Amino acid sequence: MSTAIINISSLVTNDPSLGEGPLGLVQDAAVVVDGDRVAWIGASSKAPATDNAVDAGGRAVVPGFVDSHSHLVFAGDRTAEFNARMSGRGYTAGGIRTTVAATRAATDEQLEANLLRYLDEALRQGTTTLETKSGYGLTTADEARALRIAAAHTDEVTYLGAHVVAPEFADDPAGYVELVTGEMLDACAPHARWVDVFCERGAFDGDQARAVLTAGTARGLVPRVHANQLGHGPGVQLAVELGAASADHCTHLSDADVDALASGTTVATLLPGAEFSTRAQWPDARRLLDAGVTVALSTDCNPGSSFTSSMPFCIALAVRDMGMTPDEALWSATAGGAAALRRDDIGRLTPGARADLALLDAPSHVHLAYRPGVPLVSAVWRGGAVVH
Ligand code: NIG
Ligand code: FE
Repeated sequence: MSTAIINISSLVTNDPSLGEGPLGLVQDAAVVVDGDRVAWIGASSKAPATDNAVDAGGRAVVPGFVDSHSHLVFAGDRTAEFNARMSGRGYTAGGIRTTVAATRAATDEQLEANLLRYLDEALRQGTTTLETKSGYGLTTADEARALRIAAAHTDEVTYLGAHVVAPEFADDPAGYVELVTGEMLDACAPHARWVDVFCERGAFDGDQARAVLTAGTARGLVPRVHANQLGHGPGVQLAVELGAASADHCTHLSDADVDALASGTTVATLLPGAEFSTRAQWPDARRLLDAGVTVALSTDCNPGSSFTSSMPFCIALAVRDMGMTPDEALWSATAGGAAALRRDDIGRLTPGARADLALLDAPSHVHLAYRPGVPLVSAVWRGGAVVH
């Protein structure tokens, strides 16, 4: 069945061959969806005949957001920790253990219901693809069940057994790395596409991170890295050296880190919700873009450092505080996320791409940053079906 969405004031395609500038902007546009794919893009007045038509009413359409970094298989709540931070306490990786205890104590049904709640919340804000991770189980059984639950609801699943050293191994971090690269990896690899490690003081150092990523690669997983969030460190350069799909956070970067990202294929994924919720310095998106680095924007949604599922909120922060233009932020939240997940079927609206799109209650995508905090996503299609 084919549907034409007509009378779109401003359409972001992310295909420069279809329209103006890097966003491939088309004014007074129509999109024809056939089955789960985009079939045609062009002027509204020239839209071909279809089974159905939807009138966008002179509003904007953007590709569905691609949130390439979240941590949604968890239980419990860290309101007290957030409150303490907002009264002046700093953020440390140690809070992760609070969520580990709550997650281990939860049933499969509770974890799945929690995941579904946040997936739905994200969808209603325009997110049509969402990556999510393990990392709050830290035993073989708990990590494997987190990935099993995640894999039932998204294709983009990441093994993060190396989030922090499990409490049982507090005195034996080497033993924990052995577990993560051995028995736990064996149980988890069948459920995941990606392997990740929190390479940071208080979590895993460069040598440990390398061991985790190379073991994952040997099992067919593709690396991505939590890098340079809380301070300078080896994470970014390790990510580039190992050909990771993405280095995530990138808050504290040396010139050599920026040069490495500019010379490699690793996407820099910036997570402004984390800096917002930990009152930390903003990642410098301008510096990365000016160096020619591919930048993605994601939520990092998790109960500790960034409890937002809203890509529009992240776009607004990136524009206001990280030196991005509204066009750059929109690209990074869609095509950038797709690049970080090595996908070319999403993040753009071009014939043959998956029909994932969001209709905004606004005349253009610029309003996502111009009207922060306003729920502008009024309808969402995923795989050609109206899902919100
Ligand atoms: O991406 N950095 C490590 N992991 C998460 C935080 C998880 C937590 O605090 O529970 C992050 O910010
Ligand atoms: Fe994270």
